[in-house]
Amino acid sequence: MHKNKPNKVLDTKLDAVSKSLKQSIKNLDSYTHVRGESLYVDDVNIRQGTFHAVVFDSPKAHGKIKSIDYSKAEALEGVQRIFTYKDVPGENEIGGIIPDEPLFAEDEVHFWGMPIALIVAESEFIARKARDLIDIEIEDLSVITTAKEAKAKGSFINAPRSFSLGDTEKAFVDCDYVFEGETFSNGQEHLYIEAQGAYAEPQENGNIKVTSSTQGPTAVQKTIAKVLGIAMHKIEVDVTRLGGGFGGKEDQATPWAVMAALAAHHLNQSVKLILNRHDDLRMTGKRHPYESTYKIGLSKDLKIIAYQTEFLQNSGAAADLSPAIAERTLFHATNSYYIPNVTTKVLSCKTNLPPNTAFRGFGGPQGMFVIESAIAKAAHEIGVPTRTIQEANLLDENDTFSYGQIAKKVEAKNTWHSAKNIFNIEALEQAVETFNKNNTSFKKGIAFMPITFGISFTNTPMNHARALVHIYLDGSVGISTAAVEMGQGVNTKMMQIAADVFSIPIEKIKIETTNTTRVANTSPSAASSTADLNGKATLMACNALVERLKIVASEDLKASVKDITLKEESVYINNKKSALTWTELVSKAMLKRVALTENAHYATPEIHFDKTKEKGHPFAYHVYGTAITTTTIDCMRGTYEFDSVKIVHDYGKSMSEGIDLGQVEGALIQGIGWMTMEEIAYNKDGRLLSNALSTYKVPDIFSVPKTVEVIPVETEGNDMAILKSKAVGEPPLMYGIGAYFALQNAIKAFNPNYNMQFNAPMTPEKVLMSLYRKA
Ligand code: MTE
Ligand code: HPA
Ligand code: MOS
Repeated sequence: MHKNKPNKVLDTKLDAVSKSLKQSIKNLDSYTHVRGESLYVDDVNIRQGTFHAVVFDSPKAHGKIKSIDYSKAEALEGVQRIFTYKDVPGENEIGGIIPDEPLFAEDEVHFWGMPIALIVAESEFIARKARDLIDIEIEDLSVITTAKEAKAKGSFINAPRSFSLGDTEKAFVDCDYVFEGETFSNGQEHLYIEAQGAYAEPQENGNIKVTSSTQGPTAVQKTIAKVLGIAMHKIEVDVTRLGGGFGGKEDQATPWAVMAALAAHHLNQSVKLILNRHDDLRMTGKRHPYESTYKIGLSKDLKIIAYQTEFLQNSGAAADLSPAIAERTLFHATNSYYIPNVTTKVLSCKTNLPPNTAFRGFGGPQGMFVIESAIAKAAHEIGVPTRTIQEANLLDENDTFSYGQIAKKVEAKNTWHSAKNIFNIEALEQAVETFNKNNTSFKKGIAFMPITFGISFTNTPMNHARALVHIYLDGSVGISTAAVEMGQGVNTKMMQIAADVFSIPIEKIKIETTNTTRVANTSPSAASSTADLNGKATLMACNALVERLKIVASEDLKASVKDITLKEESVYINNKKSALTWTELVSKAMLKRVALTENAHYATPEIHFDKTKEKGHPFAYHVYGTAITTTTIDCMRGTYEFDSVKIVHDYGKSMSEGIDLGQVEGALIQGIGWMTMEEIAYNKDGRLLSNALSTYKVPDIFSVPKTVEVIPVETEGNDMAILKSKAVGEPPLMYGIGAYFALQNAIKAFNPNYNMQFNAPMTPEKVLMSLYRKA
């Protein structure tokens, strides 16, 4: 179904990873995945007598707890114990950035689904039965579900943030055109296939081992230690892999692991807590909905002179990662455009929804939707194609971002013009025009979506990682890093690096589980930076070992160190194969008492950011790209299909082409889902209505574009990326925004009176109404 042209550019310019490896490499996990042998938390062999837990959560979005009666539940046979905030020996606090989130509600509840107690029983079935026997009385307090209401009531998470460049107020005065408007983008459910869960196992001396489906093992370890009031070294967190995270397990895997550990601590028995889908959907936060206003000013020649916006982020009932996500919204507010006068402001609005959280793009997509809406509005009002304004304002070398970073090695124009040329834009647009002339009940629309996404945690101190590499005495290798495999293929990339540096087959390398006792004090696997940070550390460790082994070889072969290389499991002198093999070299190093273990630390150089000035250089580099999306709508029904998405993407020099293509395709579809069909709905009382897959529609095989073509842009690449292979996890999600505007253009082709609305997702219902609405 997906057509992908052979990659000429990458074929001819290999320098990083050996050619056969980078092209043929399959995701390491593909073999065990398809055989059903991959291990997740629910597959861990549990200790005999393990207890099972279920969370009792709030049936109201806001209120005072008047009374709770656990007696019937406690009396149920098989129930071990019910834990509440009263059982917390340390702090009943799990907030990472701001301490504003209790593990268990105390006197008040702040969202529907807020954990109140943990029921531990002999089986999950019994625990669930017990949950139904709990009587709770809550006195209602007023419920806020939207960011606008929160703003009106002055309900905020923290102080607003604002970025500015130039003098926006003055610049608007000189603009030939000024337009204002508002936009809305809804939340999004992560829908990782593996729901949240953890397994806690008491060890000797009050130590606890926790297996968790988390992107952030250190956050889990730290929070358990805080809640239990014990030291971090008593907690070991282990992660084999996740059945998807998508940001939903960066912060929100923590409470379940903490609860399981708390129960294990008190009962001195293993405890397993795995949410079922309903509980997961109700209790966890999602992508943040944003309500935003914009003002855009242009000159006669369609240069955007000034841009101003206020983002209202619906943060939910606690901070979670909202402040960091709000910050990234500001970083990406101007997307791929250079605008000399910018004022952006974001308010994190406290509402009575579950705390919203990280989701692929981390606030960036929400910011980019607004600038694209503003440009579409301006184009509509002026009467020019949207792409004319987009093209006239693309970012160039040495342009300044509103946060002070100077744009370097910019590929915005390169990807844009490559897309136009490679995909023959004139022919594409002509085909759409002809189709629309010849059809009355079907219309096509086409839209461009450029992306520019900054790579690094925006919080500079988080940009570091370590790798621990062992060469065993038989020449096989074990690698531990902080990278969490969640389907994105990071383990495969780590293995490629080691295979390449040691020049040994991948069968000789094992990627160990992610474990806090082997690699400590880690940042979460997030911000698309996992392969860069952990890969650079792995590269450093492997290189250090090779340097050491070369000395051993030089002594053994009586050759100069500088003439020695390791190639295909042999030692080479001046590019000539010697008799010494990799395995023999390793044994010789052992006999000489040379260390075959290395621990390396990598911290991204050059980056910095000063929050007092809101200026700096927060990103190691940016990822660029341009997508062209074509859609056909059925004007009788409002339904639609995506004919094609054609992308020129800046991979740098991809080290794992299949994996990276998978990331682009997956992210694109997830972005299209967010923009077109995934509709989160809460009622006025703050109850989640879209609480099952029957009421929350995600893209399936029938709704993905009929063709997706992804062509790598021709580029020099960037040394800040691992082996010049750029981060790829999040950026392509934002190509999905093009789907919204393609639909809008198709609607315009049918209804010339269409009143431009920027209210995502553009569901078939909304399309239908837009087709026939007069104003
Ligand atoms: N791909 C898969 N298959 N599953 C995931 O959970 N998460 C995304 C992206 N791609 C995700 C994924 C998100 S939100 C991020 S930040 C990155 O992968 C994290 O991995 P990376 O840093 O290795 O790119
Ligand atoms: N991206 C993703 N996750 C994060 C970030 C970020 O910039 N900062 C903190 N967590
Ligand atoms: Mo991704 S949202 O940074 O986990």
